[in-house]
Amino acid sequence: MTERTMPANPVTLADHEARARARLAPDRWAYFSGGAADGITLRANREAWDALRLLPRVLRPLAHGHTRSTLLGRPLVHPIFLAPVAYQTLAHPEGEIATALAAAAQQAGMVASTQSGVTLEAIAAAAGPASERGPLWFQLYLQPDRGATLALVQRAEAAGYEALVLTVDAPVQGARDRERQAGFRLPPGVRAANLPDAAPVAGKAASTDALCGGLAAQAPTWADIEWLRGATRLPLLLKGVLHPDDARQARACGTDGLVVSNHGGRALDTVPATAECLPRIADTTGGAWPLLVDGGIRRGTDVFKALALGAHAVLVGRPQIWGLASAGAAGVAQVIRLLRDELEIAMVLAGCATLQEVRDSVLLPAATSGIATARSDEAPTL
Ligand SMILES: Cc1cc2nc3c(=O)[nH]c(=O)nc-3n(C[C@H](O)[C@H](O)[C@H](O)COP(=O)(O)O)c2cc1C
Repeated sequence: MTERTMPANPVTLADHEARARARLAPDRWAYFSGGAADGITLRANREAWDALRLLPRVLRPLAHGHTRSTLLGRPLVHPIFLAPVAYQTLAHPEGEIATALAAAAQQAGMVASTQSGVTLEAIAAAAGPASERGPLWFQLYLQPDRGATLALVQRAEAAGYEALVLTVDAPVQGARDRERQAGFRLPPGVRAANLPDAAPVAGKAASTDALCGGLAAQAPTWADIEWLRGATRLPLLLKGVLHPDDARQARACGTDGLVVSNHGGRALDTVPATAECLPRIADTTGGAWPLLVDGGIRRGTDVFKALALGAHAVLVGRPQIWGLASAGAAGVAQVIRLLRDELEIAMVLAGCATLQEVRDSVLLPAATSGIATARSDEAPTL
């Protein structure tokens, strides 16, 4: 949403977006909202969810419906996670502390970024005991030296994080033209609080020497995944996988699941929308292996569609920042609650009492879209 007036009473995620945009300085807005290069993937993520149509069933029993499920052996009250988003103190002075409080209050999963503006220990303390909140996971960027990576992993284990999410799609930053045009720089006092001052920050700005100047030599490889698998007792998920062959290899390496993601269109522009990649990956990995997806999820119907395409849960990135900038912890909590309420409305109206019934339901491509139907073998004859 770009040209809307600011809503007094936000009732959609787009309303929170308008409020956040009005509150944030233009360079910070460019940092949070921008995509890479021409924003083709950024737009495609949204368009792909919109291009799928729900095909509801009627007259089904819904009396005992719920949104509960189990992921990595842990109960989920609903399937909505907050994606790792760096430097949240740019959006609100309480940053990730406010986000953690909101996630806990709403029983949402939260994935804390390596590049959080506050420490991973402070986030875990704010999130509270595991029995009273949703899952708390730590997003890891491999550090150039394994000792530094291991130190982060051990801190996350000690602080009570329940899984590691290794991001593999951003060894260097994408061509983030919008934020550069806006002159965005981290202001004094905002830094990656988990890392020592001098530590190189992963996903750091690419320049013309990204490949030849040595940064690519630090990019993680499959050998690092095997090393990491052996270095932690926590479940390990990879984030940023789009190709079915990579999904297959991730599974063969002993990882515990994937986040199908293109970094919210911020890494390599012109890669496909995640809604386009998800069904192929789900076909490759089978129905039970944990799959999550993010990118452009803004409505409960998008969550529904993601599950119908084979995901077990979804993550939202920018919307948590909209809530945070617009009203701190209360804003983030409202963003989660709105999405969850919309998911429940969609489930009732589509005739699905459980997430399993959502996963078994059928989507159709919009007449104008080139996106394949979720699972073509299940498409009904109309
Ligand atoms: C401002 C910003 C910062 C991000 N920082 C991280 C990060 O530190 N680590 C990471 O794995 N992904 C990061 N991401 C990507 C998100 O985790 C997620 O993949 C993406 O935002 C999902 O798309 P959406 O914003 O359309 O929901 C960031 C995204 C944004 C918008």
